[in-house]
This record gives sequence, C-alpha cells and structure tokens, in this order.
Amino acid sequence: MNDFLPDTAPGFDQPIAVLKHCHGRIRKQLATLERLLSHLPEHGADEQARQAAGAVLKYFEKAAHLHHDDEEQDLIPMLRAVAQGEDAATLQALAPIILQDHKEMDALWQDLHEQLTAIADGSANVLSSTNVQRFVQRYTAHMEREESTMAPMAMRLFTPEQMTQLGTAMQRRRGIGEDAPAPSIGDAVADLRKDYGQASLNEDDVLDDPMLQFTRWFEQALKAQVNEPNAMNVATVDSNGRPSSRIVLVKQFDERGFTWYTNYDSRKAQELRANPYAALLFFWSELERQVRIEGRVETTSAEESDKYFHSRPLKSRLSAIASQQSAPIENRAALERNYEAVAATAGDAPARPDNWGGFRLVPERIEFWQGRRSRFHDRIVYERQEDGSWARQRLQP
Ligand SMILES: Cc1cc2nc3c(=O)[nH]c(=O)nc-3n(C[C@H](O)[C@H](O)[C@H](O)COP(=O)(O)O)c2cc1C
Repeated sequence: MNDFLPDTAPGFDQPIAVLKHCHGRIRKQLATLERLLSHLPEHGADEQARQAAGAVLKYFEKAAHLHHDDEEQDLIPMLRAVAQGEDAATLQALAPIILQDHKEMDALWQDLHEQLTAIADGSANVLSSTNVQRFVQRYTAHMEREESTMAPMAMRLFTPEQMTQLGTAMQRRRGIGEDAPAPSIGDAVADLRKDYGQASLNEDDVLDDPMLQFTRWFEQALKAQVNEPNAMNVATVDSNGRPSSRIVLVKQFDERGFTWYTNYDSRKAQELRANPYAALLFFWSELERQVRIEGRVETTSAEESDKYFHSRPLKSRLSAIASQQSAPIENRAALERNYEAVAATAGDAPARPDNWGGFRLVPERIEFWQGRRSRFHDRIVYERQEDGSWARQRLQP
C-alpha cells in the first residue's frame, strides 16, 4: 500500500483528500514521463531511465486503476444518491465524461505500456512523444475536471458517515487491514449503512386523500423506473396469532382499496379466512420510500376475478389451474406433469377455477415514509375516521 500512498498521505478518514493526494502522485508520474522523453535521446535506456520507466509502469498498472475504481464504484454512485437539483444535473452531465475519460486513458496507457516495459528492462529506448503528450494532456484535463466539480461537491454533500463509508471502501480496495481477520458476515451486514437524502415529505406537500397521495407516489415510482413498483409485501396472521408474509403484485388500486390475485386455498388465503386483517408494504428503495397499509381484506367479485383471469397470458392461466398453491408436491417433474395434463385438456380459453381470484385490502391506515439524512426520516400517517374521512399526523422517525 505504501507504494501507492506514502506515509505523508492523508488518512482514509479524509477520503477526498486521499483522492486529491492521488492526483498529486499522478502529476509526478506524468512529469517523470515527460522528463523521460527528453532524457532518452541523449542517454538511452540507462539506469536512470530504466528506473523511471519502472516507477511509471508500477504506478499506472496498479494505483491508477484503484483510483479509477474508487471513483466509479464508490464516489460517483454515492454522489448520485445524494445530489439534488443543480448538483444532480451537473453530475448527470459529468459522470459519463469521467467514465469515458477513464476508458480513453486506459487505451492511451496501453500504447505506452509496451514501450515503457522495453525501456525498463533495457531492451529498447523508444518512447512516442505523441503518445506521451496525449496521455499527459488527457490526464491533466481529467484531474482538473474532478477537482473543480466532484471533489467540492462531495465535500459539501457528504455527511461524516458517508465520508467514513467512502474511506472504508477505498481502504478495503487497497487491501488495508488484510492481516486483520475478515469481518464476519454478521459484522458486514451490521456495517451496511446507507444515508438517505433525496427528498422530504411535509404535511403541506401531501394530499388530503391518501389514495391520491399513493397514486402520486406510484406514478413517481413508475417514472423513476423503480424495480417492480407494484410488488408489495402482504402480511397475514393465522388463527394462533402467528404472522407470515410474502410478496405479491398489486393489480389495481382505487378508492375501494388494493387488489391482488392469488389462490383461494393458499396459505395466505387460509390465514385471511381465519383473520381477515392484513398489512401491505411497498418499498421503493430507489426513491428511499416505503408505504405501509393496514386494513380488512375482502374477496373481489367473481366478475372482477374473471376479468383479470382472462386478461392473463394463457400459460399463466394454465399455471394457476395446475398449481395447488402452498400445498407440498414430491418434485418439479410432478408439477410439470400436472401442468401438461391441464394444458392437454383445458383448450385455449379455460374457465377461471373457483379457487383462484382476487383479494382487496380496504385501507384503514396508510403511512408514507420518506428517508432523510442521519435516520431523521419523515413519516406521515393517515387514519380512516368513523365518518369515512381521513385524519393525518406526523410520526417520529
Ligand atoms: C415479485 C413477486 C411477485 C409475486 N406475485 C404474486 C402474486 O401476484 N400472486 C401470488 O399468489 N403469488 C405471488 N408471488 C408468490 C408469493 O410470494 C408466494 O410465494 C405465493 O403467493 C404463496 O404464498 P402463501 O403460501 O403464503 O400463500 C410473487 C412473488 C414474487 C417474488
């Protein structure tokens, strides 16, 4: 490690200073390269030239890549997660340029690598001045770009926790602390820490009707292209008071509630028959948002279930008919046989089986949660009143 960052380097508790220090080291190597250009015609690949070529090779073969990885894998993604408004726009324009620079600098380095290797082992003394100049110019412009925008942005936006996170990632990349025992998976999980700060949620921002508020957030989730925006967790409780949960896809939401489709003999359906209260949870991590919904569950009408069933692709309809959801079966082959048997007889417009249809949760309580800095999140909860109206209040994080 000390080969890349001498003892005088700032500590990893100041990761941005470390990155700037790396730029200092790069500038020194670039100056050595330029000196080598004028040295070689006069002295050939003498001891001094061989050493200089070796030092430049060593630096750009390893340390420079670590530095690029710091930016690509940590600094830029972390900035993307916190930058807003003008910063976000600057970053959106800048990040692709930085990544492109890295690629092109790597390509330029490949051109130099072979010549420097030959100089370092004393077998040749040719160094292309055009390649050196291109490499030096590209790196210099690149570093200036980073120093004038990304570094100050990180200094302004990162919390102390985020600085620690960045410094730790950079340290790990350099294998620092390799002698220390590897952290257990438990410690690694405990160390996973992401600070939120994309947006806020105020009493004045939210709509009076939580279903409209949900619609607004859902549309924003669609627009942000979050992964499976309609996937929600459904928690049910059995007749012994024991909870269980699973993901399903919400297929409809409106003033009547939230609807999903499933098998009426499944575990969740049995639990809902014993206890018709359930809790739904949407987590849109890309937007640092969750929505918690609680209420009583009813079945959808046969007409509604038919309509949705017939809108599904044929193979999904056949699967729904063939699967006794939640019941054990000996193996996959048996499952496939059941499907084939259904497919052979059902035709291309099979009727919806009686044991398949929709559930609708009629909400009594809906909470909107927006992640904020340092775990000081925003929570606004709506509760249905006896007269059918909604009352809302803020909850502590
Ligand atoms: C992304 C995703 C979407 C799912 N969507 C549904 C669904 O809409 N309906 C459903 O019955 N199961 C769905 N499942 C499967 C359920 O999670 C679960 O395995 C199944 O409903 C059986 O649950 P149960 O035994 O508790 O009744 C989905 C699973 C995932 C991961």
